Amino acid sequence: MKYNLQYHEILLLKKLLEKNDICLNDITDIDQAAVIRASMTLSKLKLTNVKEEDKLVLDLSDKGVNIIKNGLPERQILIAIGNGLELEKIKIKDKNVGVGFAKKQGLIDIQKDKNNLVVATDTGKKYLKTKDIIQDALENIKKGIKIDSKMIDTLTKRSLIKSTFRTIRTIKATAIGLKVADETKLVKEISRLTPKHLTTGEWKNVTFRKYNVVAPVAKMYNGRKHPLRVIMNRIRDVFVEMGFKEMNGPLVETAFWCMDSMFIPQDHPAREAQDTFHLPLIGDLPDKKIVDKVKNVHTTGGKCGSKGYGYAWDDNEAKKVLLRTHTTATTFRYFGIEKIKPPAKYFCIDRVFRNEALDATHGAEFFQVEGLIMDKDLTLGNLKSSIKEFYSKFGIDKIKFKPTYNPYTEPSMEAFAYHEGLGKWIELINSGIFRPEALEPFNIDVPVIAWGLSPERLAMLVYNKNSIHDLLGPTCDLEWLRTYKVPKREI
Ligand code: PHE
Repeated sequence: MKYNLQYHEILLLKKLLEKNDICLNDITDIDQAAVIRASMTLSKLKLTNVKEEDKLVLDLSDKGVNIIKNGLPERQILIAIGNGLELEKIKIKDKNVGVGFAKKQGLIDIQKDKNNLVVATDTGKKYLKTKDIIQDALENIKKGIKIDSKMIDTLTKRSLIKSTFRTIRTIKATAIGLKVADETKLVKEISRLTPKHLTTGEWKNVTFRKYNVVAPVAKMYNGRKHPLRVIMNRIRDVFVEMGFKEMNGPLVETAFWCMDSMFIPQDHPAREAQDTFHLPLIGDLPDKKIVDKVKNVHTTGGKCGSKGYGYAWDDNEAKKVLLRTHTTATTFRYFGIEKIKPPAKYFCIDRVFRNEALDATHGAEFFQVEGLIMDKDLTLGNLKSSIKEFYSKFGIDKIKFKPTYNPYTEPSMEAFAYHEGLGKWIELINSGIFRPEALEPFNIDVPVIAWGLSPERLAMLVYNKNSIHDLLGPTCDLEWLRTYKVPKREI
């Protein structure tokens, strides 16, 4: 069999002819990356085997390296004092450490009565004449020579070495590998043609390294859209295809647009701090004509046959500033400020905030999608068919409706979809026909059907995820984010 090996691969094999097994880290005459690459290719071809082992390895600390260079601080002290020197006059780097160790080992004597004169003791003088075992041990570690465990203890205590686990790879040639190593000629290859090769004619004698287009390389993860963003973009496409226009509004909103404008009573529990994030600000109310009409509808019910709430409407309550709890705030801005007229179809995809406990289907901030149709003669049937059409564009046909309550719609309906992974119906949509009290202040006299939904939950269905936390945030599986597939469009 012909192996077509490259220069480094042959070089590595040749090394294995001389030595039975080699630790890859010990190869210093070839670039480590090239060593690893060559060993991977050789192992794949079954010419070598690589054994991996986690081993405790000793490395010199910065202090240890310094000692090899300058000697131990106690030795430096002894050298510095010569026949005796006052403590204050000793000028070495680790003076205090050196004095400490020298005293502890009885190498020096400090004479307090003679202005702290430091002199070498007999032990100290003897010590200076002997070789330093600590420095010796450090040098051995540097050379990779084994030292005894007692010495390891001493060095560790003095923070001169660090011990860490490291993966050691040892390579060994197989029988075929040895045969190939013996039979293959090592030819120096070059990877780049230079002007010199051309001018000297040397190019005729060199061998060019072949490109290896099948060599294993590190996996690359390119940037890609977040799966939830993919769903929201698709939602936008679906709405646009259905003839809707996009609307958007501020995240920081007044209670007026978020609640009062749509006939949510001022004592409604959703307005409390445990449900809504309030900001310590006071906002502006819109045009007085609109404010008066909203106030009138709350107080008396206006002209639409309602009795209203019968309380004194407080504009301070409406001026409170909060983080928008639903995109319906934007819908009402479009009624009151953009003054949209029937027939109209609008949608909004935007962020909302709720002060809620987190669980599999709830987060404190999330996206909301809202759709509305304003036209004469619209009925609950139109609302149901619009919702069904919307979902069918995501391949979801198992839908159930259930009556519900919203202060601003009547009738109101929740839509549930069946989640195969969770094995249960999950609520996706809240919807309804806006109440006359919510529309009167904006002079809208045709029915408006509307729905709000969570794109996160829709994404859970589309990607078959059991929790929104599998889709977003720190508990989300990175590997899935890198590799997820976008389901094909059903339309
Ligand atoms: N605002 C509602 C919610 O946050 C959704 C909704 C929008 C309901 C429009 C009815 C009409 O759940």
